Amino acid sequence: MISSVPAHVGVIMDGNGRWAKKRLMPRSYGHKSGMNRMIGLAERARQAGVKYLTVYALSTENLSNRPKDELDGLFGLFRKYFDANVKKLYAKNACVKVIGDLSALPDDLCEILKNGEKNSPEGADFTLVFAINYGSRSEILRAVNRAVEAGETVDGEKFSSLLYTADIPDPDFIIRTGGEKRLSNFLAYQAAYAELYFTDVLFPDFSDAEFDKALNDYASRERRFGRI
Ligand code: IPE
Ligand code: IPE
Ligand code: MG
Repeated sequence: MISSVPAHVGVIMDGNGRWAKKRLMPRSYGHKSGMNRMIGLAERARQAGVKYLTVYALSTENLSNRPKDELDGLFGLFRKYFDANVKKLYAKNACVKVIGDLSALPDDLCEILKNGEKNSPEGADFTLVFAINYGSRSEILRAVNRAVEAGETVDGEKFSSLLYTADIPDPDFIIRTGGEKRLSNFLAYQAAYAELYFTDVLFPDFSDAEFDKALNDYASRERRFGRI
């Protein structure tokens, strides 16, 4: 029987910039509000019985295509809040995993992110997966090259183990805030059978009540996986 609560939820946290613009504030203010909301959402997801929450914080395209000052602002935010926020999560028996190409990020930030993983408690009952400089296409190409280098033919199980998300079950439910109806290079392989939910609510306004509404929508769906 399939649970009515998704074990793994992915969130494309979009709309921070527009949220700030509506308030005549700089985009960085929206990113800061989004960061706070992300931690609130992790707690709400854990309470609801979700086991994995993957949050899309920065795409490979964001890193290539956003102005340097916006990226520096984002890195500053991650530096300032990541550590403190993950410690709050540890206290609630949650662990942290980071997915994406960390090698292209500033060294000190890379260290902070790796420590977030390393210092996570054993036996946690909830995992926050932080996707940063993450892109499905580069993840898939990396996995293919790893298989080629090892001279291996891979089946589905083996291929999954070569992705950043090895050891993490495929997402059951993908939520995108901010009104766009696309995946923007997020978990394209893993989300092949995920239920999708799009809302116009901008991420900093995506409250616990909005999250509950999305979970109720998920609970009403019939997942057939090809069956009649
Ligand atoms: C999503 O918000 C966060 C990141 C991509 C870092 P945006 O920054 O894309 O916000 P909008 O879409 O411009 O409102
Ligand atoms: C997707 O948002 C990436 C993240 C939320 C981190 P974008 O705002 O970058 O997506 P596009 O460019 O509108 O597709
Ligand atoms: Mg956006």
